[in-house]
Amino acid sequence: MELHNKVALVTGAGSGIGQTVATILAREGARVGLADVNIKGIQETLSAIEEDGGKAFELPGDVSIKNNVREMVHRLVNRFGPVDILVNNAGIEGSASLVHEIEEEIWDRVMSVNLKASFLMCQAVIPSMMERRYGKIVNVASLAARRISYLGGSDYTASKYGLLGFSMHLAYELARYNINVNVLCPGATLTKMTESKLTKEKEEEIVRQIPLGRWCSPMDQAEAVLFLVSERAAMITGMVMDVNGGNLLGFGDYPENMARREERSARKR
Ligand SMILES: NC(=O)c1ccc[n+]([C@@H]2O[C@H](COP(=O)([O-])OP(=O)(O)OC[C@H]3O[C@@H](n4cnc5c(N)ncnc54)[C@H](O)[C@@H]3O)[C@@H](O)[C@H]2O)c1
Repeated sequence: MELHNKVALVTGAGSGIGQTVATILAREGARVGLADVNIKGIQETLSAIEEDGGKAFELPGDVSIKNNVREMVHRLVNRFGPVDILVNNAGIEGSASLVHEIEEEIWDRVMSVNLKASFLMCQAVIPSMMERRYGKIVNVASLAARRISYLGGSDYTASKYGLLGFSMHLAYELARYNINVNVLCPGATLTKMTESKLTKEKEEEIVRQIPLGRWCSPMDQAEAVLFLVSERAAMITGMVMDVNGGNLLGFGDYPENMARREERSARKR
């Protein structure tokens, strides 16, 4: 087991990517704090982990509020010990509106959950990581931070670029304490966040833009996180891991583009 004796904290652990990340880390021996506002969700995650023989602990609450974050970390440290691994995954979609129509309250909320919460979590766990000269942090941004959001608005895009910038700076500052900070940028991944917005047609339209020909699963994302927090990635810091089936490689409809390329090539034969 790669994470034997490690303590992990995963935010947004009650659903989708965070739920799978928490389960995989626990399967590898980590004792995992499950932070989420979705109490039913973290109960489900806890049951799945315990049925699997793993150890986890519920941390209900909103991770964008400083006192909650302090309290969560305090409770986890008392229960399992200091945090070795932090996965800042909790996120919300934002407005999906055009920029001139985004309400200020929504903009602020998206920044709080998608950006400030990671800052608060990092502030709460880093001092002990620095003391122990050990730590692995993965911040979950998005494909939106590599181009722009496909389904969401500029509030979501801006929050994820912010998280990327914060992570790079953090990686630089913390390297001398042997703390690795990396970013996961998931592409289209089937979870509650995306399913709520999808029609069958939209789902298929998105698949056509993915060279590897399918949506990502939460497990695809969790495998990447596991790698980044393991000793196999000991010399990787300040890196962005894109898990998107090649979505950034080309333009538009992949089957159509490839058919055109094949046709062009055939004409030259
Ligand atoms: N699904 C995708 O296609 C996709 C693509 C790119 C990036 N992402 C990012 O991956 C992360 C996980 O997304 P998902 O698809 O699993 O979404 P999801 O909606 O299934 O899960 C997100 C979880 O975060 C929790 N959460 C939201 N606000 C919170 C808060 N203030 N405090 C505590 N918990 C909170 C929710 O309750 C939920 O359980 C998000 O940061 C999202 O932006 C997802």
